[in-house]
Amino acid sequence: MLRLVVLISGAGSNLRSLLETSQDAEFPARVVAVGADRVAEGFDHAEQFGIPTFSVALSSFADRDAWGDEILAQIESWQPDLVILSGFMKLLPPRVVATLSPNLINTHPAYLPEFPGAHGVRDAIEAGVTETGATVIVVDNGVDSGPIIVQERISIVHGDTEATLHERIKPVERRLLIQAVLDIANATIDLKELS
Ligand code: GAR
Repeated sequence: MLRLVVLISGAGSNLRSLLETSQDAEFPARVVAVGADRVAEGFDHAEQFGIPTFSVALSSFADRDAWGDEILAQIESWQPDLVILSGFMKLLPPRVVATLSPNLINTHPAYLPEFPGAHGVRDAIEAGVTETGATVIVVDNGVDSGPIIVQERISIVHGDTEATLHERIKPVERRLLIQAVLDIANATIDLKELS
């Protein structure tokens, strides 16, 4: 059974789908804790499923490294096999990435390497392209630049706004994330080999 720690910053809809899926006794992974860089709205989902939460605000620390060290300490206290960034909107300091790598993955609402960064959905709309996508990657020290685990194309339709497009991307992201967790648990994917 894979022990998962999930980091979020916002609504946590992808987290919720992971929590629902891991209710299934056959699913080979369990969320053991949910962390955030604030008291995130998505903590409500964790609480509904009886999963402990921790929040570590960057503003409470002298610098990013000190903040990262505290996040790392909190994560490691749960002894996870895999850490999932699911809408976690801060870059983790290099020593956190180095310690957790390659067992640190991230979901992104675009077909990477297209449209990395905090506004992947908006950037695709503004670029006027007809397709974007969803991607799950291994986290490295860049911005959404790590090795791709799985990704899928999604069409942009006439009249799409950032909100309507994101709502179509999210179910695909959830499916890809669950597939990635399954493949990692079943050793169909070897994160060391990918990295
Ligand atoms: C998701 O679409 C996730 O991929 C994105 O934030 C959303 C979080 O939604 N992350 C990024 O853009 C990271 N670059 P949620 O909080 O409802 O799961």
